[in-house]
Amino acid sequence: MNGELVYGCMGLGGAWSDAPLTTEDVDIAERAVRVALDIGITWFDQADIYRNGKSEEALGQVLSRDPGLRDRVRIQTKCGIRLGENGLEAYYDLSKASILERVHGSLERLGVDRVDVLLLHRPDPLMEPDEIAAAFAELRSAGKVGAFGVSNMSASQMEYLRSIVDEPLVVNQLEMSLRKRDWVEAGVLVNHPEGAGISFPEGTIEYCQAHDVRLQAWGALAQGVYSGAAPADRSLAEERTAVLVSTMAGEKNTTPEAIVLGWLMRHPAGIEPVIGTADPVRIRACGDAARQAAAMTGPEWYSLYTAARGRPVP
Ligand SMILES: NC(=O)c1ccc[n+]([C@@H]2O[C@H](COP(=O)([O-])OP(=O)(O)OC[C@H]3O[C@@H](n4cnc5c(N)ncnc54)[C@H](OP(=O)(O)O)[C@@H]3O)[C@@H](O)[C@H]2O)c1
Repeated sequence: MNGELVYGCMGLGGAWSDAPLTTEDVDIAERAVRVALDIGITWFDQADIYRNGKSEEALGQVLSRDPGLRDRVRIQTKCGIRLGENGLEAYYDLSKASILERVHGSLERLGVDRVDVLLLHRPDPLMEPDEIAAAFAELRSAGKVGAFGVSNMSASQMEYLRSIVDEPLVVNQLEMSLRKRDWVEAGVLVNHPEGAGISFPEGTIEYCQAHDVRLQAWGALAQGVYSGAAPADRSLAEERTAVLVSTMAGEKNTTPEAIVLGWLMRHPAGIEPVIGTADPVRIRACGDAARQAAAMTGPEWYSLYTAARGRPVP
């Protein structure tokens, strides 16, 4: 089962500061959105906090430049993280008042009446599911949100929310990539001593599969570490994997990005990679990912996986 690509807007909107959005920032965003649409992407992933709200603002301005565009895109945003408030660098707030306030801010910046999906960005230890249920019900009945989901949550957190919140949870967005592999390792290393230190909540992938929850992968391009970026701290396994990805891409007449994303999409959970590059050339390079996933054999998938983990599976 293949998912689809989602465009992650975190790179759009200029600096992470209160400096106002510029026309150049909007031009950059428009180019990115155009190329994303061109390669068949229709989902755009946002959050209230991206670029201090300017990412949503930039997307809103792009939409306002082309009145027909809103009907051709689906917008997902997130709330729940508060940055630089109350003397704290960051904290989480999933109270009813905070959810409502943040969604209203998002709608205003985006210049739309409704977002298609709203995600709770991170679990808040102080969250009261009754408050979340009330916020969701109000937003749903006012037509401001089409559907709800979560991000960075475990199966048991989702199950708990589902037992109280009437609205179905349709998405869980988690960090998953060829570099951040604990979501695979958690399953592979069941009943194996090496599995002891894995932080990924076991059963979360299967829970989402069983309950029709779309799994979205943030960080899906692994910040380009296998597809052209060469950070100074790159490990030997990362270097070797980048070489394998490049060789495979050459043999299959495709791009390294399509191999890296195709590896994620080859998984039967129908993972939807959220791509965060703002570079038009790199966005276009992602366009062949679903085709590569469909063509990727099991042994090819394992060769990428074992190269990235730096040793064979047990
Ligand atoms: N739910 C959450 O908690 C959460 C957290 C983080 C992100 N997200 C979402 O997921 C999306 C993607 O996440 P991400 O941006 O962390 O991951 P990503 O897509 O793996 O990485 C994108 C970053 O890597 C850089 N990059 C990619 N290929 C490169 C190359 N070949 N050479 C140099 N740089 C390269 C990009 O720079 P260029 O723009 O220059 O290409 C960009 O800064 C975000 O936009 C956001 O929508 C969600």
